[in-house]
Amino acid sequence: MGDSRSSRYKLLGISGSLRRASASTAVLRAAAERLPPDVELSIASIGELPLYNEDDRRPETIAAVNELNRAIDNADGLVVASPEYNHGIPGVLANAIDWVSRPGYESVLKHKPVLVISTSKSPLGGARAQLYLRELFAATLSRVIARRQVVVGAAPSKIVDGRFVHEPTLAFIDDAIADLLDEIAVFKARPLEPFRGPLRQNRYVSR
Ligand SMILES: Cc1cc2nc3c(=O)[nH]c(=O)nc-3n(C[C@H](O)[C@H](O)[C@H](O)COP(=O)(O)O)c2cc1C
Repeated sequence: MGDSRSSRYKLLGISGSLRRASASTAVLRAAAERLPPDVELSIASIGELPLYNEDDRRPETIAAVNELNRAIDNADGLVVASPEYNHGIPGVLANAIDWVSRPGYESVLKHKPVLVISTSKSPLGGARAQLYLRELFAATLSRVIARRQVVVGAAPSKIVDGRFVHEPTLAFIDDAIADLLDEIAVFKARPLEPFRGPLRQNRYVSR
């Protein structure tokens, strides 16, 4: 991982799996180790978040949610690696996204560039979870990058001594991260200027 003071690009990794031997987390760790010096990827912790409940105003809940919100806000882009669970995504990941997706359409996820990686034991590589995640991020107005999808099949077999070592997959992920950085660079060079005029009425923005 790079030094946050000198990094030009800050990426935040979010794993959909909390288990120690997670292939999804191992993919993120391996990708982080291969980044050039001006790019850093740190991994968020989402396991401490309580189940989403709008009524939960406990200080520890607010602190945990704020911490994740801040980490996302400070990141130029997200790399989300998740297993497929029951043709969808793990509840822990859905829960974390629910927390940081508020206020609706105005959250830290809005306009955030996102690279999605799905993992699975099966050869399908969690392709259904990948589609599900794309739809879920669309609801938060984040920008899942358009590129060949990163779908990691037979993921546990690509781990040796806790490290994800499958070079062809890692090279493909290097390319995907380069695409994410390209998208971020374009965005940094030309920040979004809202189009003004009669087309924009923002009727559906709830505040
Ligand atoms: C509750 C549960 C449901 C699962 N459902 C699916 C599934 O629908 N499709 C699939 O390909 N794999 C499924 N799996 C297998 C996981 O994708 C596989 O165990 C994956 O490696 C776990 O990710 P991790 O190594 O990052 O923890 C399921 C696993 C669990 C625990």
